[in-house]
Amino acid sequence: MMKGEWVRAHTNIALIKYWGKENEKLIIPMNNSLSLTLDAFYTETRVIFDENLKADELYLDNTIQDLAALEKVKTVLNIVREKAGIKAKARVESYNHVPTAAGLASSASGLAALAGAASLAAGLDLSEKELSKLARRGSGSASRSVYGGFAEWQKGTDDDTSYAVPIDDASWDIGMLFIVVNDKKKDVSSREGMRRTVKTSPFYQGWLDTLDADLSAIKEAIKQQNVHEVGAIAERNALKMHATTLGANPPFTYWSPDSMRAMESVRDLREQGYSVHFTMDAGPNVKLICKQSQLAEIKAYLLKDFSESQLIEARPGPGLLVVSEFSK
Ligand code: DP6
Repeated sequence: MMKGEWVRAHTNIALIKYWGKENEKLIIPMNNSLSLTLDAFYTETRVIFDENLKADELYLDNTIQDLAALEKVKTVLNIVREKAGIKAKARVESYNHVPTAAGLASSASGLAALAGAASLAAGLDLSEKELSKLARRGSGSASRSVYGGFAEWQKGTDDDTSYAVPIDDASWDIGMLFIVVNDKKKDVSSREGMRRTVKTSPFYQGWLDTLDADLSAIKEAIKQQNVHEVGAIAERNALKMHATTLGANPPFTYWSPDSMRAMESVRDLREQGYSVHFTMDAGPNVKLICKQSQLAEIKAYLLKDFSESQLIEARPGPGLLVVSEFSK
């Protein structure tokens, strides 16, 4: 039996989105993406390789998961087994630390924590670059959660050249505020959503065409620590990504009426003079990009339209950590 240590990974939110794969099996993306890792949401995972197990098992928050949930996990475990020459099946124990249950648990923190935990349990001593590649094979966005602060996933051309790199530690006045929006609609997973968009949306090429410009502009704004510019570029980038889904066949959107209400509040806040912009991922929640020093004021303003439990403050968070003392 090989019992690894607990590894903690924080979730990240893309400011320049990953949307579409060039290679589905290896998870090589169509474009570079850039994100900010946050302190507010994380996953802690431990892996035990055990010869007595008949099959891999995943426990999430003490509940055993079905085969569908195990799929991404098995991809990562198989790569680790191959690298380390291990035959044993694994028991994966994972805890999501998210302030509310409203669709905030992310595959980014989950698969990044797994990459770290599985490689430790197998006795592999991987560099951050190797960990990023391994996490990527589980879920693309997880490649970026290996690092704290801003990270860029460089798409590369094959398994060996597609990984994230750190860009800036974000130890300046930037933060994010989540507006948690509940929605009864059945989700289109990001995996299915991007697949459908690449295949069928006539707007997809338009999305790809402006990405290089968005990326170089946001990197410059990060260098200058200009939260207004970072947010403005991220907001435009997210709106372009979401526009591609409306052109897909069948069409779909991640927006709900409450998402639009949240966007309106952001525009109100801008009229009040705040530097605040939004981004959205493959779900109805809206994430604000603003000065960390104004998080409390902005949250207070939003309380007129949203409840306390819908508003979650987040600050830049760290990269992968080995945690000797498990925190639940
Ligand atoms: C909209 O990383 O969840 O959040 O690689 O298929 O597992 P897979 O997809 P995933 O996609 C994330 C998409 C996004 C944008 C982003 O995080 O860059």
